[in-house]
Amino acid sequence: MKTIRIHRFGPVSGFELGYSPIGKPLMTVYSFRVGDVMIDTAQANMRGALFDLIREDRPPALILLTHHHEDHSGNAAALSERFGVPVMGHALTGVKLSSPFRIRPYQHLIWGKSSPLAVQPIVTEDEPIQSGTHRLLPIHTPGHSKDHTVYLDRENGALFSGDLFLGERIKYFRADENIREQIASLQKVLTFDFDALYCCHHPCETGGRERMARKLAFLVEFYETVQELHREGMPPRDIVKRLDRKADRLVKWVTLGNACFANMVYSALAG
Ligand SMILES: [Fe+2]
Repeated sequence: MKTIRIHRFGPVSGFELGYSPIGKPLMTVYSFRVGDVMIDTAQANMRGALFDLIREDRPPALILLTHHHEDHSGNAAALSERFGVPVMGHALTGVKLSSPFRIRPYQHLIWGKSSPLAVQPIVTEDEPIQSGTHRLLPIHTPGHSKDHTVYLDRENGALFSGDLFLGERIKYFRADENIREQIASLQKVLTFDFDALYCCHHPCETGGRERMARKLAFLVEFYETVQELHREGMPPRDIVKRLDRKADRLVKWVTLGNACFANMVYSALAG
């Protein structure tokens, strides 16, 4: 089953796409369009639908990637080739996408694989990227992945946040996520002013900075609780049992444990 929706958030368009081989998609992903710029390119499994939406709109002049994950970079190579558009991203995104990278069976099934491509490296935080009338400041925000980068549209008070936000009280981490880096990245973006939060899974037009601040407070409290239990001598598996809200079961099952609550605890205990 497929989900194909187009959302208009003032000057920003959001292309929401979801794919599932069985039943309703468990998750959808957004690709955003502001002026000539496209931020993230959704999943390869929905390439046809994305191309149709872009044809109805107009081709972008520039593609920016928030990170290399296959639900964000899935169509970057195809779009770049079809429309002759440059793709820019963090230098580490470029390294990851310079050759094929391994993904798990559930990722193949839900998102599909990204094709390798050349990504022009950006210099983060120094100066905004200008395309047409829009200026977007890249801010390096590791934690969800090492290369993760968000783009701030200061003039319109909007943050294109990739997977930095996702939700205020998140329920699971992928195995490679780093909670301390995420906390530092959230603190960093909260030094900037914005209201609209264009998260690639749960965007909102207003109140985005407050939602981001609530996520930071949640992660800090979670981190401190895990550390406290660890200082009291509780073994990691018991900490998982104590704090587990059992809200990750479906995702844990689908991802064969790659995304689960226990990873949040282990991340908080990692040296
Ligand atoms: Fe991601």
